[in-house]
Amino acid sequence: MIQVEHLSKHYPDKVALDDINLIFPAEQTTAIVGPSGSGKSTLLRSLNLLERPDQGELQIDDLTLDLSRPITTSQILQIRQKTAMVFQEKALFTHLTVMRNLTEGPIKVQKKDKQVAETRARELLEQFGMSELTDRYPYQLSGGQQQRVAILRALAMSPKYLLLDEPTSALDPELEAQVLRVLKDLAKKDTSMIIVTHNMAFAEQVADQIVFIDNGHVGYNGATEGFFHSDNKRIKQFLGAMSF
Ligand SMILES: Nc1ncnc2c1ncn2[C@@H]1O[C@H](COP(=O)(O)OP(=O)(O)O)[C@@H](O)[C@H]1O
Ligand SMILES: [Mg+2]
Repeated sequence: MIQVEHLSKHYPDKVALDDINLIFPAEQTTAIVGPSGSGKSTLLRSLNLLERPDQGELQIDDLTLDLSRPITTSQILQIRQKTAMVFQEKALFTHLTVMRNLTEGPIKVQKKDKQVAETRARELLEQFGMSELTDRYPYQLSGGQQQRVAILRALAMSPKYLLLDEPTSALDPELEAQVLRVLKDLAKKDTSMIIVTHNMAFAEQVADQIVFIDNGHVGYNGATEGFFHSDNKRIKQFLGAMSF
C-alpha cells in the first residue's frame, strides 16, 4: 500500500497540491484523472520522490517518510526499488536493442546476473507476444511498440508498484489500443498500478478505484462505478467535457 497524508506541494506562484490524503492499495489499479494542470503528474511523481513535496507523510509498505524533513539517499533507493515509472514520451535507450533495454537496469542497477536478466526479459517479451522485437533497435519499432517495450522495461525491474503518467497520450488511437491491452492484462494479474490517464473509457473498464484531482485537491476518491455515476456537479462537468 502507498499512502499519503497531508501532502502539499507549492511552486512559487502556484499551489500544485493542497493537503492530499490518499491510499493506493497494493494489487489494485488506481486511475488518477482530472483536468490539465490540476496536479496529477505532480502527485504521481511525488509518490516516488521524482518530485519533492514540501509537507506531509509518504508511506510505502513499511517505510514511512516525513516529507518536511531531509530524506536520505538510502530511503530514496528503497522507494525506487519498489516503484517504476513509465512516462508519456517514449524513453528507450536509442542505441540499445530491445533486449538490452530490458536488461540494462536489472544488470547495472540491481546487479543481476546477465543470464538471469536475459531469461526474465525473454519471459516478459513472450508473455506479451513481443518476442519478434527482441533484437530490434527502438527506431525499428512503431510508437505503440516502443511504449509497450517501455512498460516491459519497467516490469523487468520487478517493481511492486507500477506508476504510469499518460502512457498513451502521445499515440494515435490504433497504437493506443495495443498499449491499453498490455495494461489491461497487467490489471487482471493484480499488478499494483497507479495510472494517470485521459482515457475515461479505459479508466472505467480497468480501474479498481478513481482519484479525481481538481485544482490541487482531491475531488473524488473511491469506487470506479461511483465516479462515473456521480451526481456531483463538478464531476459531471468534467466527464461531460471529456466526451467519451
Ligand atoms: N516546475 C514547475 N514550476 C512551476 N509550476 C509548475 C511546475 N510543474 C508544474 N507546475 C504547475 O503545477 C500545476 C500542476 O501541474 P501538473 O502536476 O503537471 O498537472 P497535470 O499533470 O494534472 O496536468 C500546473 O499549474 C503547473 O503549471
Ligand atoms: Mg501531467
